[in-house]
Amino acid sequence: MNNIRNFVIIAHIDHGKSTLADRLLEITGTVEKRLMKPQYLDQLELERERGITIKMAPVRMTYRLTTNDQRPTTESHKLSVISRESSNSEYILNLIDTPGHSDFAYEVSRALAAVEGAVLLVDATQGIQAQTLANFENARKTNLTIIGVGNKIDAASPDQIAAAMKDLGELLRVPQAEILKVSGKTGEGVEQLLAAIIEKVPSPRTYAEQIQTNADKISAKSALSQRDSAQGSRALIFDSFYDEHKGIIAFVRVFDGEFLTHRDIFLAATKVSAKAKEVGYFTPQLKASSRLLGGEIGYVATGIKNSDQLKIGDTICGNESACAPLPGYAEPKPVVFVSLYPEESDKYDEFKQALNKLRLSDAALTLEADQSEVLGRGFKGGFLGRLHFEIAVERLAREFHIATIHSFPSVAYQIKRKQGEDWTVVTNPKDFADDAAEVLEPITRVEILTPSRYLGAILQLKSIFRFFDLRTSNIGDKILIIAKLPLADLIGDLDDKLKSVSEGFASLSYELIGYEKADVIKLEILVAGQMLPGLTRVLPKKDIEREGRRTAEKLKELLPRQQFVQSVQAMAGGRIIARETIPAFRKDVTGYLYGGDRTRKMKLWKKQQRGKKKLKELASQSRIKVPADVFKELLKK
Ligand code: GTP
Repeated sequence: MNNIRNFVIIAHIDHGKSTLADRLLEITGTVEKRLMKPQYLDQLELERERGITIKMAPVRMTYRLTTNDQRPTTESHKLSVISRESSNSEYILNLIDTPGHSDFAYEVSRALAAVEGAVLLVDATQGIQAQTLANFENARKTNLTIIGVGNKIDAASPDQIAAAMKDLGELLRVPQAEILKVSGKTGEGVEQLLAAIIEKVPSPRTYAEQIQTNADKISAKSALSQRDSAQGSRALIFDSFYDEHKGIIAFVRVFDGEFLTHRDIFLAATKVSAKAKEVGYFTPQLKASSRLLGGEIGYVATGIKNSDQLKIGDTICGNESACAPLPGYAEPKPVVFVSLYPEESDKYDEFKQALNKLRLSDAALTLEADQSEVLGRGFKGGFLGRLHFEIAVERLAREFHIATIHSFPSVAYQIKRKQGEDWTVVTNPKDFADDAAEVLEPITRVEILTPSRYLGAILQLKSIFRFFDLRTSNIGDKILIIAKLPLADLIGDLDDKLKSVSEGFASLSYELIGYEKADVIKLEILVAGQMLPGLTRVLPKKDIEREGRRTAEKLKELLPRQQFVQSVQAMAGGRIIARETIPAFRKDVTGYLYGGDRTRKMKLWKKQQRGKKKLKELASQSRIKVPADVFKELLKK
């Protein structure tokens, strides 16, 4: 284990994690030069297209420290530390690249639990951002060794670099000289970073050793009992995906013992026994190996086909009798709920299978069966934010070829129908009761970090978003705005609006902090007298008239005409607040008549009217079909 280093790269979105990882892959010769492409670890098509990391990506690199690397890289890098290990200086470096956006923080937290060190990267042209603070806090709580690095020094001015180093030094409480300077683009400083990782990040330890050193966190007694039971092999499952041939592939960090191909494995939480079809590590593609040793990060192909049998955060053991579970992860708490249906209702089974497979590689996704009168059978998905939901829908389309229709995203409301009754949680707007005695809605604590010149413009957003308890403070030459905001507003388009008023300079991070009283009401949409539950939303009372009108107008524009007149109504609190009429197709039934008696035309018009009335009656008895495109268009921000 002495020559292994496990670490993550964490940073605010777009600060250059994946690009820095490219240089590490190159320098260590992990990826051949001719195969190298920018942001190599962003393997999903969607990641490459959008230029964002969605999934954490582990990769194993080997690196030999040359004598040159052994010079001190900063004041505090003492030669003696490295030369101690120079007799055997080939290192295995297990890197996990992580996503930057708040919606994927669960990916980051799982990666943190599998490693000992974190490279906290800050784009020197931007300085510290909101997600830098959030990531730093999480890495600190996980007791990781954190290496501060200023990135993009090729593009930053000397002043910008100096400011970033100063702020990062203050955040990490280390002398500025310990902050490394790199450019992921040109590769400058990257060798020194590798040397610093080897020097500073501790080599992995068995779980028992780890908790012994964290004795302040876990009582000595439980530490001992964990050690007693840790005779077998144990690994933490931090991610997974489905492979047609090898079954579920579990990404693991081995804490104790070793895992070998064809040996028995046992899953602690689901109590499932299996045989490892293959073990290996990431190059970043899967590379089979004869064994995975303690301290290593790699994968176990379990052969298990049923997605319910393997849970991320579970412990995989070498045998059932000595399988004390490692502490897993806190269950992700979904905060945004959206009902999803297959666009073609006869594809329900494929849709269900695809969702289950997606869940294997998206541990934050929760699912519950759902049914809609108009859209048929589906699932209610729980997501960690709006972007998380949008990405899941796109992944369903690209990776599993399932097109979906979905309802408006909603948060979870707590409702007390009558005073004295218990609270019920409503995550589907159609179940929301307008006459409830009390309603609570989820509240977030948002942190917005911005250059001071945009403060005024950002504060004006208060006219659209329900910010309250707002405070400001200074961080370096930036302003940190801390405020409370209902989650329902946050999943609107706060992110976009913030970016546009600050020309992209302000950044946002948030966490859910609790529930507070809400002044909200349900908006329902009726077409030809039929309610469309997928379009039901819960909105602040102050916005209801405007949103009702907007939706009715948009539907009038988007819905295809029928042979009869259709009404579009927006209803709230038992009254119609907006109404539009979609005219019928016009068919000239008298066109072929040439001159002649008007009564013949009248007769034909009457007949046409009778026909339309009949059609309308028939339509009101059957379901109104809202084309998928209309749903999609309406849901656009
Ligand atoms: P997310 O994972 O989506 O948060 O992004 P990331 O942190 O992995 O950033 P990524 O590596 O995708 O880089 C974001 C942008 O910054 C890309 O356009 C890169 O080309 C650019 N970039 C990254 N590193 C450097 C650098 O050292 N110098 C310059 N000039 N540009 C860089």
